[in-house]
Amino acid sequence: MSKQKNPPKVNLKQIEKIIAEYQGRKWALIPLVQEVQEKVGYIPSESIPTIASALGLFPSQVQAVITFYEQLYTEPRGKNIIRVCRGTACHVRGGKTILKLVKQHLGIDEGETTEDMEYTLETVACIGVCALAPNIMVNKEAHGNMNPKKVARLFERSGKE
Ligand code: FES
Repeated sequence: MSKQKNPPKVNLKQIEKIIAEYQGRKWALIPLVQEVQEKVGYIPSESIPTIASALGLFPSQVQAVITFYEQLYTEPRGKNIIRVCRGTACHVRGGKTILKLVKQHLGIDEGETTEDMEYTLETVACIGVCALAPNIMVNKEAHGNMNPKKVARLFERSGKE
């Protein structure tokens, strides 16, 4: 889950409109939360009780489903998702240092989003290109054989440094 210090104000009216389309359809929980996330960017925690009552569920049931699916979020996320691999192959080839450097460059911790909403930092168990360890994913693009210089260049390029 990503944290942001001053999250933007939630437009509950927009969410209520989406919820109204699914009123009373218990089975529709997943399509409903997916649509909220698609249109709002995440599923604000404030909307969970309304979602639950519209579908005749308990808020804890809605929360459990959101928690279960890694691709559903209750916090706003940055425009760019940075995923640093913490798998064994990456770990033994300096992945820990790479993560530390990325944190320094972005000024955030794992699971956090930068104030300007540009970046969210996450770690993953394995990106699937272990031969190129240590690895980072920037959105859908994998960057292998990472080293301190490459980390610096990556964030220079994206205007962060
Ligand atoms: S362990 Fe990092 S890509 Fe597999």
